[in-house]
Amino acid sequence: MSPSFTGARCVVTGGLGFIGSNVALALAEAGARVTVVDALVPGHGGDEANVAGAGLRVVVADVGDAERVAPVVADADFVFDVAGQVSHLAAAQDPERDLALNAAARLRLVEILRRVNPTVTAVYTSTRQVYGRAERLPVTEDLTPRPIDANGISKLAGEHFHLLRNEDGAGRTAVVRLSNVYGPRQHLLRDDLGVLPVFARRALRAEPLVVFGDGRDERDPLHVDDVVEAILAAAVTPEAAGIVINIGGPEPLSLRRLAELTSAASAARPPVVPGDWPAANALIDVGSVHMSSARASEVLGWEPRIRFEEGIRRTLEWFAQHPERYR
Ligand SMILES: NC(=O)c1ccc[n+]([C@@H]2O[C@H](COP(=O)([O-])OP(=O)(O)OC[C@H]3O[C@@H](n4cnc5c(N)ncnc54)[C@H](O)[C@@H]3O)[C@@H](O)[C@H]2O)c1
Repeated sequence: MSPSFTGARCVVTGGLGFIGSNVALALAEAGARVTVVDALVPGHGGDEANVAGAGLRVVVADVGDAERVAPVVADADFVFDVAGQVSHLAAAQDPERDLALNAAARLRLVEILRRVNPTVTAVYTSTRQVYGRAERLPVTEDLTPRPIDANGISKLAGEHFHLLRNEDGAGRTAVVRLSNVYGPRQHLLRDDLGVLPVFARRALRAEPLVVFGDGRDERDPLHVDDVVEAILAAAVTPEAAGIVINIGGPEPLSLRRLAELTSAASAARPPVVPGDWPAANALIDVGSVHMSSARASEVLGWEPRIRFEEGIRRTLEWFAQHPERYR
């Protein structure tokens, strides 16, 4: 872990959620003084248990709440802006709520930073969903984003609000576009937060894993420990400021293969069965998509290290120790 964080004042938004809590805990372990800002939005993955006992300061607030957030970020050395509405299905059902949480709140946060701490270094976690259906594979950052759903649009807006900080010449934000992330502390109990947590939950509960369609579409799953390393590297790499960087998994795998590997890593080894695409999922499906991490390697010196077979084994082991998280 980078020694650059020893004594650093770090704010992690969304720090009670899946990725944010893993970032916050890693920073604390690296000697940082960590404050978490999270609104505990209903239906999201936020859970105070994610950071329980770690001695972090927790502020329950929306990232755009100036009264609560300005004093927290005013003396920060780093802001890790990880908060976000993740569900593409929820965004399709209520795009205005998605816009409020991902874009409007983000604009307010960037304005708060401009006012009280303009030079702070930030990292914003975006998503591969901004690319929409891939023009070519693997997806590189030079492809024009063509989001096909409200969530992709609101996340892209969030990127641009952050990137404006670099245009001002004062602040620095790096934008990382994450692939499908999985690992400890992910919320497994909802069906609309991604295919990987659904597979994990079903495997843990010994229920059949349902693969929609022919299951040949590919993803490049990314273990959260790899994500944390990439995010921390982006914060301490000056060359990352003002650019977007793909953070992809180590290998593309078909959805069918992902289901098979998840089942094989579980104690119960439930069957993998085909199923029809639900109409709502089909509308926002992007087909095969996996990202090139070449820029991340060049700029951050980062590469994904955890292959899915190993990562899912570790993930299911963690959840087996926390049965309340999947029952
Ligand atoms: N999980 C993935 O596979 C994935 C993939 C690509 C990108 N991302 C991005 O990573 C980020 C974190 O995702 P996650 O999987 O940890 O989700 P999560 O739901 O587990 O955590 C998100 C947290 O953000 C909080 N939050 C949301 N909007 C907020 C706001 N306006 N103010 C304060 N708190 C707010 C929620 O309460 C929740 O605790 C998101 O921005 C998401 O777009 C996630």
